[in-house]
Amino acid sequence: MIYRHVDVALGERSYPIYIGEKMVASFAPTCEQHGLPKRMVVITDSNVAKLHLQPLLKNLKRLTFDPLPIVVPAGERQKSLRRAEAIYTEMLKRKVDRRSTVLAFGGGVIGDLAGFVAATYQRGVALVQVPTTLLAQVDSSIGGKVGVNHPLGKNMIGAFYQPKFVWTDLEMLRTLPDREVVCGLGEVIKYGVILDRDLFHFLEERLEKILTLDGESFLHVQARCAELKAEVTSRDEREAGLRAILNFGHTVGHALEAAGRYKTLKHGEAVLLGMIAESLIATELGLLPREEHERIVALIRRVPMRASLRSLQPSEVIAFMAHDKKSVEGKNRFVLPTRIGEVEVVENVEHSLLRSALASTARLYSLPKRQ
Ligand SMILES: NC(=O)c1ccc[n+]([C@@H]2O[C@H](COP(=O)([O-])OP(=O)(O)OC[C@H]3O[C@@H](n4cnc5c(N)ncnc54)[C@H](O)[C@@H]3O)[C@@H](O)[C@H]2O)c1
Ligand SMILES: [Zn+2]
Repeated sequence: MIYRHVDVALGERSYPIYIGEKMVASFAPTCEQHGLPKRMVVITDSNVAKLHLQPLLKNLKRLTFDPLPIVVPAGERQKSLRRAEAIYTEMLKRKVDRRSTVLAFGGGVIGDLAGFVAATYQRGVALVQVPTTLLAQVDSSIGGKVGVNHPLGKNMIGAFYQPKFVWTDLEMLRTLPDREVVCGLGEVIKYGVILDRDLFHFLEERLEKILTLDGESFLHVQARCAELKAEVTSRDEREAGLRAILNFGHTVGHALEAAGRYKTLKHGEAVLLGMIAESLIATELGLLPREEHERIVALIRRVPMRASLRSLQPSEVIAFMAHDKKSVEGKNRFVLPTRIGEVEVVENVEHSLLRSALASTARLYSLPKRQ
């Protein structure tokens, strides 16, 4: 059932995000309503294919769509030009023409990769995002950023390319490993801190329900996050300014991920830890009242995260921060909260402050190594 839809307002490139649960039966009819070409390339990964591909293909075929599934191995390494090329090859061999649709059916990796393929194959074919992880549903499938990694940096090759619609079905998340739910919550809490005090309060009241994917609480949160991301995207599609606020927790987070060689921490875990460190920086700079900082830390601490910062060296993390692609002319740049629900951009935070914030965060999270 479709519970509601949220619009991403971008003039003639506007599109809806459909949100609900057990929605598969309505998928093909919605494709029809949108007038999508019958030839559909369904790009997915091996995990999602095993769990969810057949019902989707069956539904499409019933309404005379002609789906061509392309299944790639799971994992961030697939977000590469090499994998994109292999997909182009398959599409060319199967004579996929410009009047076709690409369905990105998976987590953020598939969304970015398949979106990039859709943006570039024969100068662009229709794209539909069908996100299957919490992170992808509340964040990466909305806003049109697509791309692949380069050996010299993550997300270095890409485009802005908006889908025809986004299809967010809570049912998909029921098979998601707990660790991935935790990762998605990183972005959810982020929206509360940067833009929406009421959402933050709702999370404080219902966190445990949300973790169990309780329908009513969860759908409320999902819809609110989609609205916030849609609003930010509408106001700043190509990241000229406002969209940067979505980077709260990410300056430290990206550096933590890199310092752990992308093995120790997943993105969402790094963002949860990054938000603790950055809100502490905000407090030390006198921007954020201490009680507000404590609320942020208390909520994040309730998220059952088993990540450890024990093996990470603060000096190495700081060195990675200097290489962040969002830093401008060598100055570091932080999105810092001034109260829950509001942020500002601050540049040139001193290294000594970064170091002490990292050390305090590490003290909260120095669990023994994951088994
Ligand atoms: N484009 C953007 O705006 C944007 C924003 C944030 C993140 N990203 C990108 O998103 C990627 C991370 O996305 P992610 O966290 O979704 O990772 P992911 O796509 O690798 O998915 C995580 C894991 O969950 C599995 N999975 C997916 N759906 C499942 C389901 N329903 N049931 C069981 N298992 C399932 C996947 O196979 C994978 O092993 C990164 O590459 C990041 O750069 C992009
Ligand atoms: Zn993120």
